[in-house]
Amino acid sequence: MSTSPKLRIAVVGGGIGGLAFAVAISKLNLEEFITVDIYDASTKLSQVGAGIAFFPRGWEIMKHMGLEEDLEAKLPPGQEKPTLDKERLYYQTRKSNQSVGTHISDLKLPGGSVTLHRADVQTILLKHLPTAIRCHLSHRLKGYVETNEGIRLNFENGRTVLCDLMIGADGLHSATRKTLLSEGKNWTEQEAIQQSRPLWTGVHVYRYVADAALIRQVCPENRALSKVMLYCGKNKHIVAFPMRQGELVNIVLCISNPGQEGTYVDGPTVTEATQDDIADLFEGWEEDVQVLVKNTLKPSRWAIQYVKPLDRYVSQSGRVILLGDAAHATGPFFANGGGLAIEDAFFLANIIGKAIKAQESTIDVPKIARIYNEVRQPFCNSKAAGSLELVRHYQFLEPGFEEYGDGVDLPAEKVSELAKLLAESVAWTVDSVKLDLERALALW
Ligand SMILES: Cc1cc2nc3c(=O)[nH]c(=O)nc-3n(C[C@H](O)[C@H](O)[C@H](O)COP(=O)(O)OP(=O)(O)OC[C@H]3O[C@@H](n4cnc5c(N)ncnc54)[C@H](O)[C@@H]3O)c2cc1C
Ligand SMILES: *[C@@H]1O[C@H](CO)[C@@H](O)[C@H](O)[C@H]1NC(C)=O
Ligand SMILES: *[C@@H]1O[C@H](CO)[C@@H](O)[C@H](O)[C@H]1NC(C)=O
Repeated sequence: MSTSPKLRIAVVGGGIGGLAFAVAISKLNLEEFITVDIYDASTKLSQVGAGIAFFPRGWEIMKHMGLEEDLEAKLPPGQEKPTLDKERLYYQTRKSNQSVGTHISDLKLPGGSVTLHRADVQTILLKHLPTAIRCHLSHRLKGYVETNEGIRLNFENGRTVLCDLMIGADGLHSATRKTLLSEGKNWTEQEAIQQSRPLWTGVHVYRYVADAALIRQVCPENRALSKVMLYCGKNKHIVAFPMRQGELVNIVLCISNPGQEGTYVDGPTVTEATQDDIADLFEGWEEDVQVLVKNTLKPSRWAIQYVKPLDRYVSQSGRVILLGDAAHATGPFFANGGGLAIEDAFFLANIIGKAIKAQESTIDVPKIARIYNEVRQPFCNSKAAGSLELVRHYQFLEPGFEEYGDGVDLPAEKVSELAKLLAESVAWTVDSVKLDLERALALW
């Protein structure tokens, strides 16, 4: 039995990253040594009613946490859980601004991809959350202060809470990141907001969900009913895939505004849109696309933002740690922001587990932060940058591809060149996390 007081861990943000951390740490049976509390701004934990793709790396972690069976039950018909023994389809790419599109590639990699509804993923994570981990809703973090008694979290509802290790999993607009970046600076509040403010990728997306039965009625062969599809054109591409056991199709229309990457978004970042707004954007595209843009339910338009690459994900004291979008939000073009958040969560939980096992007199929190930062910061920054690059592959914006996209067909050698670029960009999502984790734990 441990005699020293338990390490108080506060997780700010109960999104995919925060919940994955809580589940991952609970599986290590450390109740004797730690307490974990989650604080979220919302009145009820919820997810955007949209889809989320998983690749073998993220799935491996969910499996390791004991979630595979529950997730598998939610897969659309025809999708199998990713096992690396078999090459499967990641996604199919077509060039689509023409009455009959042309096939670019069937990107196949070991394991393949699976697609789920976000609400299902959240429900499953919550189901595996032990009751000992409390979720405090309506707690919007304002900022934190490091004191001798611990880190003091200040919430907008007036509450303050003390902890020994703070995990900022508070997403794109992270208040934790704002305070962390201000360390040692003489910034005013306005300057702090400006410095941590996300930047625009230059891309707007329209996202919505369609009823698969409606699509099947008018277009039984629509490819997006059964697999992850990418329909590409100049400055535009569409991602569509089935979810919720095949009852729904998740659709994301991505529109680039060239020259705008790295600017700030003025005005609201999410607005309502109409079917008319989007049908015009894809006039003349092939039939699959026409059906997808004419069967929309409540589309919304999002300005996609990213976090300016951070030099470190941890405070100087090592007692505050960022994970997920708070640390490295990027464009959704690799469909892996959630995957990276789950990785961060899993690595951090296991490093904490190692620290407790190695515990001499007290748990060495700064060392946890140092190792986490060493393995996650370079990795996630590079993958986040890679996501922004992918949009250029999909939209014929890469040098050597500028003349293609609309009107001009891709010659065979350009098709294979593009297919190769796509395969290289996502190859890392197949690599097992096992070796990376061993490497991280060996740093202890
Ligand atoms: C169009 C689109 C498609 C995408 N598709 C995919 C995909 O297919 N696969 C994939 O892996 N990823 C995808 N992503 C990325 C993925 O959604 C994010 O990377 C992921 O949700 C990040 O999880 P998170 O827990 O870090 O942050 P979030 O999910 O944003 O959670 C943050 C939580 O913190 C809370 N919070 C915020 N501020 C505060 C505060 N001040 N105090 C307290 N709580 C606070 C929020 O209420 C929220 O619950 C996509 C993103 C977009 C925009
Ligand atoms: C911050 O401001 C204080 C008071 O104005 C000053 O003494 C201090 O040197 C400043 N610190 C930095 C890092 O600029
Ligand atoms: C489709 O391609 C043509 C060139 O062939 C271009 O003029 C047009 O703007 C494109 N349409 C859309 C909706 O992207």
